[in-house]
Amino acid sequence: MGERIPTYEVITFGCQMNDHDAEVMAGMLESLGYHQASAMEEADVILINTCCVRETAENKVWGLLGRLVRLKNKNRHLIIGVAGCMTQQPEVAHKIKNRFPQVDLILGTHNLHRLPALLQEARQSRETVVELWNGAGAVVEDLPVRRTPGVRAWVNITYGCNNFCTYCIVPYVRGRERSRRPEDILREIRSLVVDGFREVTLLGQNVNSYGKDLDPPATFARLLEAINAIPDLWRIRFTTSHPRDFNQELIDTIARLQKVCEHIHLPVQAGSSRILKLMNRGYDRNYYLDLVERIRRAIPGVALTTDIMVGFPGEREEDFADTMDLVERVRFDGAFTFVYNPRPGTPAARMPHQVPEDIKSERIQRLIARQNEISLALNQDRVGRTEEVLVEGESKTNPALLSGRTRTNRLVVFPGSPELAGKLVDVFITGARLTHLEGKINAAG
Ligand code: SAH
Ligand code: SF4
Ligand code: F3S
Repeated sequence: MGERIPTYEVITFGCQMNDHDAEVMAGMLESLGYHQASAMEEADVILINTCCVRETAENKVWGLLGRLVRLKNKNRHLIIGVAGCMTQQPEVAHKIKNRFPQVDLILGTHNLHRLPALLQEARQSRETVVELWNGAGAVVEDLPVRRTPGVRAWVNITYGCNNFCTYCIVPYVRGRERSRRPEDILREIRSLVVDGFREVTLLGQNVNSYGKDLDPPATFARLLEAINAIPDLWRIRFTTSHPRDFNQELIDTIARLQKVCEHIHLPVQAGSSRILKLMNRGYDRNYYLDLVERIRRAIPGVALTTDIMVGFPGEREEDFADTMDLVERVRFDGAFTFVYNPRPGTPAARMPHQVPEDIKSERIQRLIARQNEISLALNQDRVGRTEEVLVEGESKTNPALLSGRTRTNRLVVFPGSPELAGKLVDVFITGARLTHLEGKINAAG
């Protein structure tokens, strides 16, 4: 009876912003009547949401495209679409079109809302449909979203970035910074709470500069205050915080607001003031160390995580020693570490004294080894304490256990009934690993 329901698959790479865009793509496809495919091989439409922050991210996409094209040779009706940060660069879009003429649709980051119309066009066209908008358009509200089920949801507060760190491609592919209006953000979060979500993560490349472009202007601190007042929302997180725009008012607001979790992701990038200057980060080593101290003084027990890059052009052994020293002084709860990778079109790619790959990889290994020791030691400090955990559900690595996160964003696994998913429980911590804590639910909890 009736026709087969068409199915889709969205495959996403890169940051949480891309993860959330993938939820919007899925939402748009579902409003067209598509259902999620049970496997990629079954799908009628496959969309790739790409990232270009480093070459490794791009290579994953080239590899995947090769596989998809082989699928298409078996199933001529398959529609392949490529979206995201990689395709927003016109020369890359053309390269995809030339190397993989089997791709049906290429779109960029500013015209995501055009997906339904473009898909329609692609189905009728023999040629690859390519549509890129070069100026960042207006903020488009009320697109359908198909969120990953659970208690936690991502909410955009700003799009784009104005910082132009000299190594970074993001401002070129995401455009200038645009803030959503506070009333739109609050409306979205209220409706998430009605749908049963209890934790939101506010997303922006630099959440601390939220609202500067609005009329009347708004601030991130005031936005947090308004969100904190939403009934039945339990936890508020946000990412990413740029150190330069992290002012005292914001620190005090975070300290005061009960729902804002004690975790700040505060990318430092480098510990050498000379390198920070070349990176155009807008702060130096002393400013960062002082900021960390002020945050810790105001927010007891706060967890700090960071991004660190090694091998930026001109980085000498003494600059790297400054990074190691900063890691030692701050003792980050966790760090994402990266080897600098030149991105075509960015100023750093043209800088002299590019660091040879073997030196980069030797430095990052030293950094990771030391940071891992610190992360593990800080996790071990939690043993013997009781932590408030928001239960997400079955642990991904061991379905016999539950998993959830502490307010400081530590992953905890523990035995318990699956019905606890979505609830807050007190967990007594019994063990610590590098990546997570182990525990048992408090009898009283
Ligand atoms: N807006 C965020 C970061 C977005 S990109 C911020 O400013 O913190 C995520 C991380 O990727 C960056 O923090 C940086 O450490 C890393 N990164 C960006 N460009 C890179 C490049 N060209 N090579 C290596 N790592 C890079
Ligand atoms: Fe890139 Fe810097 Fe903007 Fe972060 S703040 S997205 S690192 S330009
Ligand atoms: Fe990648 Fe784009 Fe995010 S380049 S890191 S997916 S903003």
